[in-house]
Amino acid sequence: MGGYAALLGRALGITGPDLELLHTAGILHDIGKIGIPDGILNKPSSLTTQEFEVMKRHPVVGRDILSRVSSLQAVVPLVYHHHEWVNGQGYPTGCKGADIPFMARILSVVDGFEALTSVRSYHEAMSVPQVKQVLLEGAGSQWDPDVVNAWVALLDDNRLPDISAFNTAAAGQ
Ligand SMILES: [Fe+2]
Repeated sequence: MGGYAALLGRALGITGPDLELLHTAGILHDIGKIGIPDGILNKPSSLTTQEFEVMKRHPVVGRDILSRVSSLQAVVPLVYHHHEWVNGQGYPTGCKGADIPFMARILSVVDGFEALTSVRSYHEAMSVPQVKQVLLEGAGSQWDPDVVNAWVALLDDNRLPDISAFNTAAAGQ
């Protein structure tokens, strides 16, 4: 989702090296899933509370992996915070609003869109209009409203070069 994150970032005024950074973070955001058992990642039904607690470690694992790579230091906070919610109900820290790095808020919207439009082991893909509705309903609680609005504007203007990529993305990517 690196390319889509960068597209949304550009629409929100991000330029130059920051845009590169956002693109890289979009590629690496779920690298921590490497540390999560396959039985949880590919479970064909909803996760139990205990399994979800394990799943919630992936941003922490991602941070720990990327912290060791000196050239990727700037990516670390974006990967670490990509599952925070603007109302503080997300993970791993529960920080809220402007305390969540802006580019992590961008990743969260594109990630949510990608997850819902993809076929996953535990759900069928939703249509783009359905997902748009979910994002708009979650604006202000899960997602930053400005970021959601910018993404919806891109969708409405048909400015995503290959939206079908979302529907064919491999599960869990
Ligand atoms: Fe994630």
